[in-house]
Amino acid sequence: MDESLAIAPDQLVQTHARPGMSLLAVLHAIQDELGYVPPAAVAPLARALNLSRAEVHGVITYYHHFRSEPAAPVTVQLCRAEACRSMGTEALAQHIEAHTGCRFDAGHQHGATVELESVYCLGQCALSPALMLNGTLHAKVTPQKFDAIFAAASKCVEVTA
Ligand code: FES
Repeated sequence: MDESLAIAPDQLVQTHARPGMSLLAVLHAIQDELGYVPPAAVAPLARALNLSRAEVHGVITYYHHFRSEPAAPVTVQLCRAEACRSMGTEALAQHIEAHTGCRFDAGHQHGATVELESVYCLGQCALSPALMLNGTLHAKVTPQKFDAIFAAASKCVEVTA
């Protein structure tokens, strides 16, 4: 059993898997609750949905959205698709790396409080550049705006730590 889980994987799956639900719907429900899909949940998911473990694992690893480990306390997802690129997202990415001391797409470094991730379109193309910070969408992000929202998110992490 994964000792870091507050709930047993079988119970986690029973809580979220309802008859007729798709694997994707169950994965979303689990990730919404925990922030990731624990590897220990793969076998119970396969049993509950009458799939192979390889099929469940394949879906989790195919969709970039699903995580197999908890995210850092402050997670920045910066859109690097065309519309945002045309509005300066690469310069913003450089600013974010310099400001945070982290690199994009390096994964969650053990013990790190910040994780930077590239994503490709957040549906805010007309308001680019766009990013998500801890799941909250921000549009028309400038370096100054990033510094302000990052400081606020970091302060929240310090308060709850
Ligand atoms: S291209 Fe960045 S939000 Fe669509």
